[in-house]
Amino acid sequence: MRLRAFSARCSMNPASVIAIPSELLRALRRARFVAVLTGAGISAESGVATFRDAQTGLWTRFDPRELATPSAFARNPKRVWDWYAWRRERVASVEPNAGHRALVELERRVPEFLLITQNVDGLHQRAGSRKLVELHGNIARVKCSREGTIVENWSAEASEVPRCANCGAFLRPDVVWFEELLPEHALAAAEDAARRCEVLLVIGTSAEVYPAAGLPTLAQEHGGLVVEVNPNETPLSARADYVLRGASGAALPRLVSASWMP
Ligand code: OAD
Repeated sequence: MRLRAFSARCSMNPASVIAIPSELLRALRRARFVAVLTGAGISAESGVATFRDAQTGLWTRFDPRELATPSAFARNPKRVWDWYAWRRERVASVEPNAGHRALVELERRVPEFLLITQNVDGLHQRAGSRKLVELHGNIARVKCSREGTIVENWSAEASEVPRCANCGAFLRPDVVWFEELLPEHALAAAEDAARRCEVLLVIGTSAEVYPAAGLPTLAQEHGGLVVEVNPNETPLSARADYVLRGASGAALPRLVSASWMP
């Protein structure tokens, strides 16, 4: 029988030691396939705002219905464009943190690996992660709002929303908005990984947004161990096989070093 929701608590102080159960370390070391699902929390220590954290979360300060839906863009493309431009600049000005880097090390250690991210900030790639799928797109990419084609050449300086050179429609960020479908290939790869992995690490996500939030259940249904890394309780916490209650910048380097460098 599985140990349910072992809670290795630590404070947000990165120096504090997180106790990690030895069965978890063994499971990680022996796993042939490790998958990882990340959310905004892994980038919090880089200075990127999460969505739902009280006080600092983007969706506590901005209304997603006015900024992250196709109808919001149709109503006011400039407002939506400018908001994403502001976030794009913010993301470009920060650096990956110890949590991102620990996942690069993990990718090197396990035979089969997939990092599934809900983040659009590109920090995993900048840290060096290679085996990765982006479920919600990437804020640095821009596409035609009508044709969906990725556009490489556009001006970030223009005061108006840039238009597609081919059809004249507005350009938009290549991110998934509410009411939109996820990229088919990315979701298929994520679901395949959830079904086949022996361990799924679920890091820095409120586990509220589907279909990503359904991946831990899929993994458990197929025999995978689910490990949550989050300083706060989420709807997943009670169902996770292990919970590392701490910031990912502290917990992940410790998890990787304790597994392979005892
Ligand atoms: P949320 O903002 O919903 O959740 C962030 C999670 O990170 C929370 O559970 C926090 O407790 C946790 N957290 C905060 N600091 C952390 C730290 N240092 N280390 C680890 N965890 C930490 O963000 P997501 O779950 O990513 O979608 O949100 C899912 C989707 O909702 C996003 O991709 C976005 C949003 O609407 C789109 O934009 C399409």
